[in-house]
Amino acid sequence: MSAILADDRTVIERLLNHIDRKTTDMSEDVWLEPVEHYTSVQRFEAEIAQVLRRTPTPFCPSAALPEVGSYVARNAALTPLVAVRGSDGVARAFRNACRHRGVQLVDGTGCKKALTCRYHAWSYGLDGQLRGVPDEHGFPGLDKRRRGLVPVTTVEKHGMVFITQDPQGTTETEVDVIPDFFGPDWRLLSAVEQEFDFNWKIFVDGLLEGYHIRSTHAETFYPRQYDNITVVESFGRNSRVSYPYRSIEKLRSVPAAQRRAAGSLTQLNHLFPNVSVATFPTHMTMAVLEPLAIDRTLLVTYTLSNREGEDEAVQKGRDFVTQGTAEDREMASAIQRGLATRANDAFTFGLFEGASRHFHRNLKSVLANP
Ligand code: FES
Ligand SMILES: [Fe+2]
Repeated sequence: MSAILADDRTVIERLLNHIDRKTTDMSEDVWLEPVEHYTSVQRFEAEIAQVLRRTPTPFCPSAALPEVGSYVARNAALTPLVAVRGSDGVARAFRNACRHRGVQLVDGTGCKKALTCRYHAWSYGLDGQLRGVPDEHGFPGLDKRRRGLVPVTTVEKHGMVFITQDPQGTTETEVDVIPDFFGPDWRLLSAVEQEFDFNWKIFVDGLLEGYHIRSTHAETFYPRQYDNITVVESFGRNSRVSYPYRSIEKLRSVPAAQRRAAGSLTQLNHLFPNVSVATFPTHMTMAVLEPLAIDRTLLVTYTLSNREGEDEAVQKGRDFVTQGTAEDREMASAIQRGLATRANDAFTFGLFEGASRHFHRNLKSVLANP
């Protein structure tokens, strides 16, 4: 665990105290976020160029690249990329375009011995080096060493593959502050892509507070979870919000040193700017919110488990979470539609919504210091 984040025992103690006193963690101040930041194309373009492309961002879990030649291709910050595991075991990411006339080399996911272009069959090794050019004499002076796939800065840590498209020199420290989420025993169960009609930040905001649980999740999460009781922590530009289940009560009779978070609370980690890693009793998710346009977002959800074999409980747990998060997406779409009313100049994030404040503050500061 990261040194900045509290251990299980401390988080549970704080949650039980909040339950007893009917309190919750509160931020220092209310935050007003200009609504224009969700509607301005100029702001959107700045977020893409100055934040999403410059921040080390989890691209996929390590478990999505389980063997030599495994690859994952998708857009990140509007740029088609491919991550692939080399024969040396190293995960690398490249811009997904052939160096002849630019055809995208692969789609989706799979496993290959080499990346061969379907147009004229130029072929690249798993390390991105240009290996084969049919009838090479047609390209006098071609220096194959300089025509490998264009690499993107890649770091594999904490069970995830981080990419930085336009590194600004701070990559390592930002990644180091993140805890080890997925050890080698975590397997990928599924990767699901869904497109939605809302701005990416609207959905981030919804993940970061427990103030809406009773009214939005009345029949899903609320029967099992407390409303508006959270422990909110930050680590670097990231946040962790702990949401207690009603079953946390059982831990009152467990000696403090033996109390474990697993099964008694969900911990939602927001990895700045657009990724969440969340814990559930039967599995974990890593979700990437890929902005496609100012009002369109691709949600890529990776589900991982460290349990042995096929498990009915995992399926049940996933169905339950899917039902609840569908309610969050409905709210995000409703906020997006509400933008057109121009009723609000700013959205008010109250004292219970401190993790959103942390997010918007950091976004603002990164944009102000490009
Ligand atoms: S575009 Fe890829 S080989 Fe020609
Ligand atoms: Fe929610």
